[in-house]
Amino acid sequence: MDLYQVHFPNSRVPIAETMGAMEEMKERGKLLAIGVSNFSLQQTKDANAALKKAQLASNQVEYSLRKREIEADLLPYCESNKISIIAYFPLGHGKLAGSGAREKMETVCKAYSKTPAQVALNWLVSGRDVFAIPRASRAEHVKENLGASDWQLTPEDRKLLEAAFPR
Ligand SMILES: NC(=O)c1ccc[n+]([C@@H]2O[C@H](COP(=O)([O-])OP(=O)(O)OC[C@H]3O[C@@H](n4cnc5c(N)ncnc54)[C@H](OP(=O)(O)O)[C@@H]3O)[C@@H](O)[C@H]2O)c1
Repeated sequence: MDLYQVHFPNSRVPIAETMGAMEEMKERGKLLAIGVSNFSLQQTKDANAALKKAQLASNQVEYSLRKREIEADLLPYCESNKISIIAYFPLGHGKLAGSGAREKMETVCKAYSKTPAQVALNWLVSGRDVFAIPRASRAEHVKENLGASDWQLTPEDRKLLEAAFPR
């Protein structure tokens, strides 16, 4: 496996035991990278410290323009320790593609000729170590979401969006 993530922290199992097993699988060549999911800042630090040879590769957490709590502590820690953020619910369950979000993002969408979903996803991923995993069951949504890459919002437009969706 390229990346194996622990889905949730488990208070009944010591993190050293879990990370020890992950590292053993890595040493046996069963997986390339070790990640976690839904880990707080302290839990992420503990998981990383429990690894003897490997470094934590990722933490999959909820992150979108509508949900920016990780910016207070987890995101800066992950950025300085080269741990990728994998953002789930990147479209806020689809709300960031809806009419309410469209109103808030209108100026930016027009400036780049992009849809709200494309702008919301680009804001997440461009220029930083964040990956978005949007879910889409409709083919046209998948195609539209692919248009979120290969371009970049300016820092000024990022700020405009952040002001429209305050933390
Ligand atoms: N690690 C964890 O604990 C955890 C927990 C929860 C979820 N996840 C992961 O997070 C991912 C996303 O979760 P999610 O599905 O709830 O949230 P989401 O990706 O924020 O939103 C998905 C919704 O947005 C709609 N959508 C997608 N693209 C669109 C577009 N371009 N225009 C309009 N609507 C669009 C989809 O509609 P259609 O289906 O109609 O295309 C679907 O209803 C999943 O892959 C899931 O596995 C991880």
